[in-house]
Amino acid sequence: MKTRLGIFASGNGSNALNFNAYFSNHDSIEVAKIYCNNPAAGILTKAFSYDIPAHLFTKSQLTTGAVLEQLVADKIDIIVLAGFLWLIPENLIDAFPSKIINIHPALLPKYGGKGMFGSNVHKAVIENKETESGITIHLVDKFYDHGGHLFQAKTLVDSSDTPETLAAKIHTLEHEHFPRVVADHIKKLLD
Ligand code: GAR
Repeated sequence: MKTRLGIFASGNGSNALNFNAYFSNHDSIEVAKIYCNNPAAGILTKAFSYDIPAHLFTKSQLTTGAVLEQLVADKIDIIVLAGFLWLIPENLIDAFPSKIINIHPALLPKYGGKGMFGSNVHKAVIENKETESGITIHLVDKFYDHGGHLFQAKTLVDSSDTPETLAAKIHTLEHEHFPRVVADHIKKLLD
């Protein structure tokens, strides 16, 4: 039986699709389903066209336990937050100890916390004239962007960078590293 990933996504879903491609012929891990909180998210139409099962949910379904029930029914082993913008409630954290992994588009602990997502992060990095940014892949606890780090990678920020060009550099790093880091973490959990 393969380890089943539940991918949580709120928007465009390039990371979710990258996971699906990376694990499509993997011997021990598979993308089982995409879980989405945003009816207008691009990932929903993409999931449909790639034939990936998808589940849309509301905030109250997340906080009252309906999403947890769905995850259990779907036999999900590991939750991956790939551009997911809501805080994960404690019922999920308790049910999936060390089994919820987030990616953040900056070098935490800098530029994390509530409201720090997507282009907000890149704008702040550029406004503060940082010379480098990057990605942080980390375990999820009950605070935004706070759990133990699994991996970081850096990229240079040029004076000519815009939030869009920086986002593209960050996405390249995310696509290069995120699935592999999740696979390594799963291997450690199973050892
Ligand atoms: C990614 O850059 C991810 O790091 C970020 O949202 C983007 C989603 O892109 N996540 C956060 O900001 C979470 N705080 P995608 O929809 O193309 O995968």
